[in-house]
Amino acid sequence: MKEIDEIQKLFNTALDKVDTNDDLNEVRTAFLGKTGHLTNAMKLLKDMTAEAKKEFGVGINNLKTKILDMIESKKSELELAKINRELKNMPRVDLTVPCDECTGSLHPVTIIQDRLIQIFRSMGFTVEDGCEIETEYNNFEAVNVPKNHPARDMQDTFYLDNGELLKTHTSAIQNKIMRKYGAPLKAIFPGRCFRNEELDASHENTFFQMEGMMIDKNVSISNLIYFMKTMLTQVFGKEVDVRLRPGFFPFVEPGFELDCSCPYCGGKGCRVCKNGGWIELCPCGMIHPNVLRMGGIDPDEYQGFAFGLGLSRLVMMTYGFNDIRYLNGKDLKILSQTRLK
Ligand code: PHE
Repeated sequence: MKEIDEIQKLFNTALDKVDTNDDLNEVRTAFLGKTGHLTNAMKLLKDMTAEAKKEFGVGINNLKTKILDMIESKKSELELAKINRELKNMPRVDLTVPCDECTGSLHPVTIIQDRLIQIFRSMGFTVEDGCEIETEYNNFEAVNVPKNHPARDMQDTFYLDNGELLKTHTSAIQNKIMRKYGAPLKAIFPGRCFRNEELDASHENTFFQMEGMMIDKNVSISNLIYFMKTMLTQVFGKEVDVRLRPGFFPFVEPGFELDCSCPYCGGKGCRVCKNGGWIELCPCGMIHPNVLRMGGIDPDEYQGFAFGLGLSRLVMMTYGFNDIRYLNGKDLKILSQTRLK
């Protein structure tokens, strides 16, 4: 079929010369337009014998499909070339220009979080990441808070249409970590948490925690006290004491509130510790056997401790913020005070 081969050749030559979208449109009209090569060729059909018509018809239709495909790929090619040209012409930012006046600063939460990560890493803990959106199972059931348990009241949160939720505590990651590593394990996992709270100077709907877990054979409360004391002594840069008071959390048994002797007055009493000499810092306890079991770890063989450090709280204390809302606020004057610390 001479005609078909010729049109194909003509088209290839024309397409080779295309540089712009306008050129491409011209080619399209020249071949597929009302009086285009392909349209004209189709007009020949009506004078053909049935036999020839069949053969020529199939050939010309195949050619049309091929031409349409080639036009589409040329179009993508042109678009890509355009993007590459634009990227090439974009002004370059010179990151080496000195600019003392306009340096940014790390967010106070980032600074304290990094410091804690360094300390825990030096004690052999791995650092894990978690999600902000979690399943109800991970946030509650997997840490021994079944449906209708009253402890859920204290942690109302924001639910998504698919039944998932914004995690209310970093404990929501415990189950995943246990399943990922099994026992023994030593891990911390900092993260942003959410609760449906009435907002005030000490309550925010979005805040930061840092969870820690250690699971091994013969782990006891002494290990918990040791790690917490070492960590706090390093955070505050001076020797501190810790004490445990009973506290209830369904995922630990026994559960505690850990207080730290006030690093600012050495326990004598000051504004930060509200004259009590102690600061309530960190709920913690020995991991409940149910939680271990749900994480695939045998509680008869392994024990562990867990703690949920209130990172936002520690930041407020360290930098003397009297309102938690500053941490999510946009006041750079307040947030960048920490630049040199
Ligand atoms: N997840 C608890 C909370 O946010 C804190 C916690 C963590 C308590 C680990 C005990 C052990 O309230």
